[in-house]
Amino acid sequence: MLATQADRVMALGEWEERWQEDRIGFHQFHVHPMLESNIDKVLAGRKAVRFFFPLCGKAVDMKWLADQGHAVVGVEIAEKAIKQFFEDSSMTYSEKPVPAIPGAKLYKGKERDVSIYQCDLFTFSSSVGGQFGAIWDRGSLVAINPGDREKYASLIISLMAKDCRYLLDTLLYNPELYKGPPFFVPNEQVHSLFGKSCELELVQSEDALTDKQKAWDLDFLSETIHLITLKST
Ligand SMILES: C[S@@+](CC[C@H](N)C(=O)[O-])C[C@H]1O[C@@H](n2cnc3c(N)ncnc32)[C@H](O)[C@@H]1O
Repeated sequence: MLATQADRVMALGEWEERWQEDRIGFHQFHVHPMLESNIDKVLAGRKAVRFFFPLCGKAVDMKWLADQGHAVVGVEIAEKAIKQFFEDSSMTYSEKPVPAIPGAKLYKGKERDVSIYQCDLFTFSSSVGGQFGAIWDRGSLVAINPGDREKYASLIISLMAKDCRYLLDTLLYNPELYKGPPFFVPNEQVHSLFGKSCELELVQSEDALTDKQKAWDLDFLSETIHLITLKST
């Protein structure tokens, strides 16, 4: 099954094209219900947590968390997504180059603590952005090219502070029926990617099949949430 999508590659330019053409069906206008229902597990009583959003798009979840006093750092390649995030959130922002990453820019909100790096995620590192107390990964592991998953997992692990609580949203469906993205990521692979250095807990799994995915010819779609923490050494 994994082999079906193993060679799929979406170039960065294709994502930017999608934004230019408003083909952004992944964007949700409300806070993700599975983030809301698991937020207490992520926070674990902590206040002013530093959240990381890999492949952030213009997720409204970033504003929701910033409104609660958390700091948010996102990474996104499409400038249009970043500008729309701040405009939709009625936030003003500053914009400056990131010397450590050629061509990258940092957009920083003024009214709330939201910073978004415009760059390829794989050029981002803890030496640029530090480490994080929490990660919300929706539309990210499932969106990167399947061949990059190991590289992705090591990057994410390197961004986790000791107390980091990483909420990962993955999708299960029959990859013979739809080529992605979003790509399907079986639970066994979540374990093989993160299990060596992390503890994993499957906290939620829901039927997520709607008319949209039925139109992709899918007959089954399940959305799964894992809570991932670093093993104490
Ligand atoms: C499926 S969307 C999900 C966006 C967001 N997480 C959400 O839930 O709405 C993936 C996003 O990642 C961006 N993207 C894809 N590959 C990227 C990469 N390697 N580095 C930075 N951004 C990337 C795309 O432009 C797109 O906005």
